[in-house]
Amino acid sequence: MSLKAYDTQQIWQQDRDHAIHPHAHLPTSEQEGCLIMARGEGAYVYDTEGRKYLDGIAGLWCVNVGHGRAEIAQVMADQAKELGYFSSFTDISNPPHAALARKISEIAPEHLNHVHFSSGGSDANEAIARTMHHYFHRLGKPSKRLFIARIHAYHGTTFLTASLSGKPGEKGGFHFANDWVHHVEFPGLYRAPREMAPAEHLDQLAADFEKKIHELGAENVAGFFAEPIMGAGGVLTAPDGYHRRMKEICDAHEILYASDEVVTGFGRLGHFFASGPVFGIEPDFIAAAKGLTSGYFPLGASLISDKVYDVIKQPTEDSSYYSQGWTYSGHPIGCAVALENIRIMEDEGILENVREVGPYFEEKLATLRDLRLVGDTRGSHFMTCVEYVADKESKALLPEEANIARRIADHGQKRGIIVRPIGQLNILSPPLIVDRAQIDFLVDALRESAEAATADLVAEGYLD
Ligand SMILES: Cc1ncc(COP(=O)(O)O)c(C=O)c1O
Repeated sequence: MSLKAYDTQQIWQQDRDHAIHPHAHLPTSEQEGCLIMARGEGAYVYDTEGRKYLDGIAGLWCVNVGHGRAEIAQVMADQAKELGYFSSFTDISNPPHAALARKISEIAPEHLNHVHFSSGGSDANEAIARTMHHYFHRLGKPSKRLFIARIHAYHGTTFLTASLSGKPGEKGGFHFANDWVHHVEFPGLYRAPREMAPAEHLDQLAADFEKKIHELGAENVAGFFAEPIMGAGGVLTAPDGYHRRMKEICDAHEILYASDEVVTGFGRLGHFFASGPVFGIEPDFIAAAKGLTSGYFPLGASLISDKVYDVIKQPTEDSSYYSQGWTYSGHPIGCAVALENIRIMEDEGILENVREVGPYFEEKLATLRDLRLVGDTRGSHFMTCVEYVADKESKALLPEEANIARRIADHGQKRGIIVRPIGQLNILSPPLIVDRAQIDFLVDALRESAEAATADLVAEGYLD
């Protein structure tokens, strides 16, 4: 238990005046400033005033083993004393780097035995995109250089990964690599243009993908990027068999498949990686970050298949070689933290907890559907969301100014929970250690918050 005292007003002011938050709405930040989180323990976080919240979002799909882990702090300190940093650029490595690459190969699907480290999820995807290019160069097919991703995808915010991302709301005010990246339809039946059976939806998505490949010419397409369940785009789950079908189409056109498991990896769906055990595919690449270190250190990983590695490792006749990576690739502290994080997950049966409590969480969340504003609850295991509507029949949205998800999240804070507002959604993705009683608390507090927000909207004339 920390005994630190904070000057909340001073921190609030410093933050408001000088800190630019990655995705904050700047005019609102200027006006309202931020809640300042100071401390965490288990599934709970505490603000600078000592108020306690159940962390319903694991920081940001990150803190899978929970907050305040003394074992991780110890490993971090020990490694910093032993070797705080040394480059892994060329012919020097360090013990945690080597051990983590081996460990990830062991827990990953069998054909993924090569790991390239980064500092987070965006650069893990960026590395995959560049590796795809290098692979096709090596095969003498440099025209294969375009990427296909889905509308509503989120793959990061480097120039390329922001271009791969397909969230329409984030497409204003910037330039994108539109010559390089093309988007296809996204899965998710709730907002499909009309009611249809999952099998028909799947056929439609597959047909749209094939059409896009034909338009672009398969000889020009390098890779397809897909999150197993689309996260920030709205926790959109695909119909059964979707990923297998997309992979078959990729294989038929010699297109590489990148499974972006930055969110789904490291336990959120009950497995270290969901691509194989949950979705039945063998992707050419997996991107991981977040849960890899439970957020205790910024680290990402691009897992590369034997098939791709066997091509990129070959000597070339010219002087070209696989030149890709960063100063902090293979960071010894980050890798040591990840190893400890994985040890905790294995020793404490955290994947088993997700498989056990996850279905209960989904069921409990579904009980909110009786609320006036709740149009849908969806997701899988510890990756879920609630979608709010003005009218359940037409699925019409409330006006943007009603700020429904933010409003409910704010009511949630008053009731001791943190949920994430995005558009008309609240995302829930707690640490993977929570039990049924904590799920009950989270969902019951969300129910009360939605009821309080409904009363506000009636009082303000948004609803009858
Ligand atoms: C699926 C997915 N891919 C990539 C990223 C980008 O990761 P980072 O913010 O660590 O760069 C995110 C971040 O939320 C993500 O959800």
